This record gives sequence, structure tokens and C-alpha cells, in this order.
Amino acid sequence: MPTDDIIPTTQAPWRDIAMVCGKCSRKLKGGFGKKGKHDLAEVLKGALKEAGQRRQLRVVEVGCLGLCPKRAVTAVSSARPDQVLAVPKGSDPMLVLTQLNPAAAAVP
Ligand code: FES
Repeated sequence: MPTDDIIPTTQAPWRDIAMVCGKCSRKLKGGFGKKGKHDLAEVLKGALKEAGQRRQLRVVEVGCLGLCPKRAVTAVSSARPDQVLAVPKGSDPMLVLTQLNPAAAAVP
């Protein structure tokens, strides 16, 4: 148990976090990628890797964000928590990344 009043921090390798609702993803049962078989978090991670931007944005699946759109997946960037996306099935992952974090969609 730490004796100080300050909780230690660690430098993260990424600059932003995108939270994707896992419950929305399970309800859609895929819906993204070329054949529509992958979930949104998977295709976003793949697009970031392809663009060489994995350090720019960390994609994590979270529980229900409370908006629960029909036939879409809720996603939000920690940098802009007031702008929640309801990503429709089949959306282009680069378009989603551009809206979540424009720097993450930029190819270096
Ligand atoms: S189930 Fe995804 S926001 Fe509620």
C-alpha cells in the first residue's frame, strides 16, 4: 500500500483513446470489414496498423455508453467526449478514424 498521497502515473505510448461499445458490437454481430464479419474495434485497430498510427490512438472496447443506437455502434474519443458517434454498419474505418481523431487517420 503506497504511503504517499499521490497515486503514481505512467507515461502512455498513445495520445488518445477511442472507446467502442462492446454491447453495440455484440448486437450487430460483426457488420464491418470487407465481408462485414468483423466488429468495429477490430477494423479500427487494423486501419490504425495499416496507417502506421497505432501510437496515435488506442482503441478499447467498453461497456454500454448509454446511447444505444439501433443498427450502429457507439464510439467516442477521450479527446472529445461530447461528440459521440453512432457508427452505422459497414462504415469505412478510415472515415470513422477521421471523425474520432483526425491525426490518427493521417498516413505519415
Ligand atoms: S449498447 Fe452500446 S451504447 Fe448502449
